[in-house]
Amino acid sequence: EDNNSISFTVRAQHGTSELFEGIETKTYGYNGDFLGPVIRVEKGKKVTIHLVNDLKEDTTFHWHGLEVPGNEDGGPHKVLKPGESETINFTVKQDAATLWFHPHPMHETGKQVFKGLAGLLYIDDKNSEKLDIPKTYGEDDFPIILQDKTFTDDKQLDYDKVMNEDGTTGDTLLINGGVDPKLTVDRKKVRLRILNGSNMRSYTLHFDNEMEFHQIASDGGFLNKPNRTKEIEIAPAERAEILVDLTKVKGNVVTLVNEENTTILPIHLKESLDSSQTTNEAKTLNNLTLTDEIKNKKVKKTIKLAGMGEDVTINDKKFDANRIDFSQKQNETEVWEIENIKDSMGVMNHPFHIHGTQFQVISIDGKEPPDNLLGLKDTISLKPGQKAKIAVKFTEKGVYMFHCHILEHEDNGMMGQIKVD
Ligand code: C2O
Ligand code: CU
Ligand code: CU
Repeated sequence: EDNNSISFTVRAQHGTSELFEGIETKTYGYNGDFLGPVIRVEKGKKVTIHLVNDLKEDTTFHWHGLEVPGNEDGGPHKVLKPGESETINFTVKQDAATLWFHPHPMHETGKQVFKGLAGLLYIDDKNSEKLDIPKTYGEDDFPIILQDKTFTDDKQLDYDKVMNEDGTTGDTLLINGGVDPKLTVDRKKVRLRILNGSNMRSYTLHFDNEMEFHQIASDGGFLNKPNRTKEIEIAPAERAEILVDLTKVKGNVVTLVNEENTTILPIHLKESLDSSQTTNEAKTLNNLTLTDEIKNKKVKKTIKLAGMGEDVTINDKKFDANRIDFSQKQNETEVWEIENIKDSMGVMNHPFHIHGTQFQVISIDGKEPPDNLLGLKDTISLKPGQKAKIAVKFTEKGVYMFHCHILEHEDNGMMGQIKVD
């Protein structure tokens, strides 16, 4: 192993976690009892991952947001049976980003993610190393995996309930796999890398003191400039990195809450005022462009998202593993139009996700997208009746999935596949 390559094992396994005092809850995890490790890779590095399925059921290992050949992407075709293992290789070609990984076996994705199979994958690059932003893991740079779960009376994860009620809102919010989370930090500027790892639920997050913060990154990496805001909306599978200036907080606690003012994460501040903290903020984070030539291209693919419950479709069809829905040339940028059909059934938001690519949003309902959608995206949430134009390019070849990231919708066939060659 030279220093241009890295290799490690990711093992899907059963475990138990003491989520509630004195009670053992049966869970799934990667390399541990519940959830997974934060894996860090650098742009340019060769990565070798040894995948092991220690579950008693089939699974796959999907790298959400990563531009890898279709064969390494871990879609529903790449099943590992119980006890099987496989080694995959790829080179990291894309810019710094907060990605994640989770299973993708047909009809079982929702259950396996719900039971705990999800981990984070950070990409670092020269830009992310030199930017003047918090970047010390666990000190001023924190992963925040947000998930809602439903528990039975004896505190076991109750997926049947979720499945039968179209991903009903869970009764318990977990952060990083904990039911009563709390963050204690120095009174300084911190970075929260938020992943909505919930099966179906979206959140609108703000602080209880209504303070402003900056969103610096979305799914696929840094925005061009920090986007100042008081709240962010985050749909299933989306990521948002935010910078929070805790020196501005009066008092010793500030709490991240959702749209119902339910506590998501209380942040407790240590008294120490870290004087090394400067107030200059990185003003330029990235240099993404979207040319008029691309913006004005004709729509090549139309995707119509429809339905709810088991009655979900894309372009009036359900997933068929033996049907390729679309094709596209490698490295060619196409404009796709995604529409969430509004009809008697059209009452749900659908977070639309494409594997193996980071796309750019050209417009929503014919208008310029809001600032927080100007970065690279792999998932875009559309409300009933909304229509988005996106610029899609695949840098690798192979067969990739596109689907609604409400996991019960995906499992119910709200998915298609595209062949890139
Ligand atoms: Cu998050 Cu098909 O994936
Ligand atoms: Cu994905
Ligand atoms: Cu959906």
